[in-house]
Amino acid sequence: MNVYDSELVGSLLEECDYTLTQDMSEADAVFLNTCAIREKAEETVHNRLDNLHVLKRTKPNMILGVLGCMAQNLKDDILESRPYVDVILGPDSYRRIPEIIKARQGEMDNFVDTRLSKFEVYDDLFPSRHDGVNAWISIMRGCDKFCTFCIVPFTRGRERSRSIQSVVDETINAVSQGFVEITLLGQNVNSYRTPDGEFPELLKAVAKVEGVKRIRYTSPHPQDIDDALLEVMRDHSNICNYIHLPLQAGSDRILKRMNRTYTQQEFLDLVDKIYEYMPNCSISTDIIVGFPGETEDEFLETLDVVKKVHFDSSFMFKYSSRPGTKAAEYTDQISEDDKQNRLERLIVLQRKNTLSANLRHVGNTLSVMVEKVSKKSDSQWAGRTDGNMWVVFDKTDEQIKDIVNVKIEDAKGITLFGSRIHTEELIHEAA
Ligand code: 5AD
Ligand code: SF4
Repeated sequence: MNVYDSELVGSLLEECDYTLTQDMSEADAVFLNTCAIREKAEETVHNRLDNLHVLKRTKPNMILGVLGCMAQNLKDDILESRPYVDVILGPDSYRRIPEIIKARQGEMDNFVDTRLSKFEVYDDLFPSRHDGVNAWISIMRGCDKFCTFCIVPFTRGRERSRSIQSVVDETINAVSQGFVEITLLGQNVNSYRTPDGEFPELLKAVAKVEGVKRIRYTSPHPQDIDDALLEVMRDHSNICNYIHLPLQAGSDRILKRMNRTYTQQEFLDLVDKIYEYMPNCSISTDIIVGFPGETEDEFLETLDVVKKVHFDSSFMFKYSSRPGTKAAEYTDQISEDDKQNRLERLIVLQRKNTLSANLRHVGNTLSVMVEKVSKKSDSQWAGRTDGNMWVVFDKTDEQIKDIVNVKIEDAKGITLFGSRIHTEELIHEAA
């Protein structure tokens, strides 16, 4: 989401005749797009600001801005402790950038706008993209779910959706620029709601755009995954059979305390239902360990669900207390040592699961989109399967953005290794 927002800001800056530089010391303006989801993300920004302060001393005219969730959340703190920051803009205020740049040329004081909007979806703004294969497209902003650990509903405000037409227009635009994969983004994509349809209708409309080879989306809330969505995924070959399904915790008591609105059993039933529709679907997840009050037994329930579901991959986090959220007020916080210990045990289990899930593919032929040259060797490609697994294979005659068949021969860590199979060889194999 922040990559996408930075691309929006990039396009607003281009309107003011700025161009992108990779060298910070050359920059006339630096905007840090920030995240507030965990304390660690905030620490990173503080360190970066310390470095930028040094740079700004040598370049006093450089405009320094803090954007996004941390700007929203910590504006008073930043204003007070870092007076050298010129601009503080929350996630709904990026449109003010051209006006600020103009005003700065006439020297003005710090500029702060962190008002949240019920309507801003940046509908008519096309982001400035640089990646080449995948285009991120934001379809809705904000979140109304209020999980008790999460700062997002406070920093990003209320849920609001873009029109289906504007998402389709942005998709057409991205394809015309050469992008072949579209990832639809939102804090809660399946809360997407417009007078013209909900998330399944949107997916259908994007899948029909000519030239879109693959569609992914992130993140859905388990509560809102319904038959209509799974049907659309099953019935469109360019929608990847991959779902990122955040579990967060395995124990019903903790899930309730997190305000996650599903039980362990409901989550497991949903996983079964996903496999009924798409037997080869890959499923990944987010898990938090050490939520306030989580006992050792309750943590073991999380491990249990991880064993049962056998997620292809997981993003695993230690609970990080976010001031202003409900969970930050709970008095039974877990010690850092216990959180670390639980995280390590969870990671060991997930590594095993990822490797065995990958090893299961050895001998299979999978469709892989060629995305980039492999980091290890110029003579190899790296690309992803429909299920979001990275595959490395020797180059033959294929090019970036091609979808090719690769026979999987080995799996190490989180990567698969294989060889390109040409169509004639596949026919031969089938015979
Ligand atoms: N502490 C740790 N992890 C968090 N997440 C959200 N808030 C917190 C927090 N306070 C995780 C959740 C979410 C992912 C994007 O970040 O797992 O799904
Ligand atoms: Fe945060 Fe996601 Fe829960 Fe919304 S649904 S409050 S973004 S964890």
